[in-house]
Amino acid sequence: MIDLHSHILPGMDDGAASMDDAVEMARLAAAAGTKTIAATVHGDFSRGRLRRLGSERYMEYYTEKLEAFRKELKKQKIQLKVVQGMEILVNEALFCYLRASFRNSLPFSLNGGRWVLAEFEFDVSRGWMQEGLERLAQRGWKIVLAHPERYDCIKRDLDILYSLYDAGVVLQVNKGSLAGEFGQRAYRTADLMLREGIAGIVASDAHDPVLRNPELDETADLLNLYYGHDAAEILLRKNPGRILGNSGGDRNR
Ligand SMILES: [Fe+2]
Repeated sequence: MIDLHSHILPGMDDGAASMDDAVEMARLAAAAGTKTIAATVHGDFSRGRLRRLGSERYMEYYTEKLEAFRKELKKQKIQLKVVQGMEILVNEALFCYLRASFRNSLPFSLNGGRWVLAEFEFDVSRGWMQEGLERLAQRGWKIVLAHPERYDCIKRDLDILYSLYDAGVVLQVNKGSLAGEFGQRAYRTADLMLREGIAGIVASDAHDPVLRNPELDETADLLNLYYGHDAAEILLRKNPGRILGNSGGDRNR
């Protein structure tokens, strides 16, 4: 399986708190059948280390941490490929950065390709979500939207999901939403996306080795049981694999 969304890199955000935790997460992921995981650290251009260091120095910092983690996994003989990524918070600060940098490149696209993992504040308005995604798409970026089922505006108005899907946004459901960890409405929204065939990817959004862990084996079983025998293959392998390889997801699952 391929896990396109995780906070496995230690000490970068609210994910893995230490190298030991990160290694344990990797061990669990690999044992549950994950072959490749994207280390999608939170990226907010308005605050924190990313703002302080600026994108170029932050990229160097991230790459150093990623290399150290890969080395540790090799040393501990854990078979898990870790690729680069960032869960980019779409806000005005992001567009200020893009304007100021006079370039269309976004740091930390998924595996260095044209796809980015985008997220919004949970109370984002419908208008800003659509505008933000359109502005990213205008720059030629292809978008995976992290956990649509967790945004208030979508939970209130499920029609937004169809317009995002029609606009070519790949909708990524969190495994925790399917387990009811983010409440009934998030569960029902995730369930709808899967039943309607508009969800493109399911990922762990893992933050630690215990509560929000990266194991996807039970999720795969659940997908196959409730959403069709090939659901896990498409949502946990084929589509995330295409995105890491830079082509589109399967829109007709
Ligand atoms: Fe996340």
